[in-house]
Amino acid sequence: GRIEKGGHRHWMAKEIAEQPAVLAACLDHYLAAEGGIVLPEGEVDFSAVTRIVMVACGTASYACLTAKYWIERLAGIPVEVDVASEFRYREPPLTPGTLAIFVSQSGETADTLAALRYCRGRIPTVAVVNVASSSIAREADIALPIHAGREIGVASTKAFTCQLAVLAVLALHAAASKGSEIARDVAELGRMPALLSQALGTEDELEAIARDLAEARDVLFLGRGAMYPLALEGALKLKEISYIHAEAYAAGELKHGPIALVDDSVPVIVFAPTDALFAKTASNVQEVMARGGRVVLVTDAGGAERIEGAWRVAVMPTIAPLWAPLLYAIPAQLLAYHTAIAKGTDVDQPRNLAKSVTVE
Ligand code: G6P
Repeated sequence: GRIEKGGHRHWMAKEIAEQPAVLAACLDHYLAAEGGIVLPEGEVDFSAVTRIVMVACGTASYACLTAKYWIERLAGIPVEVDVASEFRYREPPLTPGTLAIFVSQSGETADTLAALRYCRGRIPTVAVVNVASSSIAREADIALPIHAGREIGVASTKAFTCQLAVLAVLALHAAASKGSEIARDVAELGRMPALLSQALGTEDELEAIARDLAEARDVLFLGRGAMYPLALEGALKLKEISYIHAEAYAAGELKHGPIALVDDSVPVIVFAPTDALFAKTASNVQEVMARGGRVVLVTDAGGAERIEGAWRVAVMPTIAPLWAPLLYAIPAQLLAYHTAIAKGTDVDQPRNLAKSVTVE
């Protein structure tokens, strides 16, 4: 009933709404009072690391792809991201100096576990997991819990933002071990729970947009830089629970194919905080609008002023661009949730999907 869901209609709604609180609890675990990082479960030694491979499935793989942007930017270590089903059968070379990071909410996904077993004993392994007693947590050299609490909705929400938070912590820790000053970025990360609360305050606007999205047969998602993985996650959430066909592209790839699909029946959702790449994304938005495309612009106040003519605009709080994927996860989730509600689908138990894929 509604009572166990904290008054919400669905587990997914509850889990979206509790993100400021669980994110704060997660960050409390890893952010030191004096402005640094602590890893209570064991030190991850980045000093000799020259390459990182990150392996996961589904939503967790998009958290990894986001972290690639962070780790490469902050720590200067090259990062490769693979889905576990490809990694395990490709049997890639594990060169000295490589660290492997496995991300899994359940800690039981068969492909991710097999990928971990392939690396184990050959290179250092780190697991980022929600279920601390899981197989992946037990078998990795170090397991870092995301502290999201039990996630029941099949479509992952709070686990995604908490995975991002722990991966942000790892990126900062790697940066510090390479001699970079991290105090400012740590402080900005610490502000994220309050900013997520503000983003949740835009739910009514997002719900109104979602009612229009529910009419669409296809939806495109665009983002640049670290907003590209978030576009992938937004498209995944939408198709998982509303069954609307959705695809995500890096905004710069628009002209290499997907623009052929643009007409007034295909909404194009663009995640565009005002960051260093904003002008580039804005010109992609113009290209879409010039072809009659209906743009749903998810941006901040500055971005909303700089782009005219979007079909719908959702205005998020203005934040440090580095951590924007954490904040923009909220509109991505709420758009998917309310579109599914408008369509009347079973949000918590979407057809054909399992919470945890423990067999191949
Ligand atoms: C399933 C779930 C997804 C999840 C993926 C990976 O597909 O429906 O929400 O992202 O598995 O699961 P894991 O537990 O390894 O994060």
